[in-house]
Amino acid sequence: MLGTENLTKKFGDKLALDNLNLVVNAKEVVCLLGANGAGKTTTINLFLGFLEPTSGAVLVDGKDVAQNVEAARADLAYVPEQVSLYPVLTGLENLVYFNRLAGKDVSDPKVLRTYFDRVGLDQGAADTRVESYSKGMRQKVGLAIALAKGAKALLLDEPLSGLDPKAANEFCALLRALSDDGTAILMATHDLFRAKEVGDRIGIMKAGRLLDDLQTSEINHNQLEKIYLDHMHDGGPATGEAA
Ligand SMILES: Nc1ncnc2c1ncn2[C@@H]1O[C@H](COP(=O)(O)OP(=O)(O)OP(=O)(O)O)[C@@H](O)[C@H]1O
Ligand SMILES: [Mg+2]
Repeated sequence: MLGTENLTKKFGDKLALDNLNLVVNAKEVVCLLGANGAGKTTTINLFLGFLEPTSGAVLVDGKDVAQNVEAARADLAYVPEQVSLYPVLTGLENLVYFNRLAGKDVSDPKVLRTYFDRVGLDQGAADTRVESYSKGMRQKVGLAIALAKGAKALLLDEPLSGLDPKAANEFCALLRALSDDGTAILMATHDLFRAKEVGDRIGIMKAGRLLDDLQTSEINHNQLEKIYLDHMHDGGPATGEAA
């Protein structure tokens, strides 16, 4: 569903992504781990067509994003670290607005309200201005917007940061449910614990390269942490440690 083929991105002389080959299938949750500057956000921005590859390709459901950015975006939903909503609008009004922006015109509030149920927000919240929402509630509205769009793939950039453990647990349970329904999910995170919990696979990135692609079922939390730290401690120049 999501794929990159020898994807390379340079910003001037800076090599942000170096021949990245990554696949996320339908019904799969893949978590990207890696230090600051590893290239996680760059990868997500290339999928969304916010950036153009220097070389290589980005594919969404077989479509090359560089050639069909609108078609690719129609299949994607995106949840950033801070979901931007209109604070003076209610949760439901935000959902109506962003649903229209996504090109869907579901105006029946009864239908839209079902998305609040699905993400675990009560109907009182749907009628409350977003300015009084907690961060966890805002992130859930972000998922409700993604659900209402009916996207085939979901990209998330550090959506868990700042969430308390219960909110993060609930958010990850929602991701699993979405993935069981068929969505391909790619999430950048610094949270090894949640990555192991929610991910089917974990990609470890460093200096624009994918150093490891792990099946979470084959490792425990301690092993994941050791593998991650070993990669981060690997000596050598940042762009040449695997040479
Ligand atoms: N617009 C830009 N112009 C120049 N350099 C950029 C730009 N965007 C990203 N970079 C560089 O590309 C590299 C990858 O950055 P990126 O934001 O993808 O990392 P990240 O893995 O998301 O890091 P973090 O964990 O801090 O969010 C970094 O060296 C960064 O400085
Ligand atoms: Mg980032």
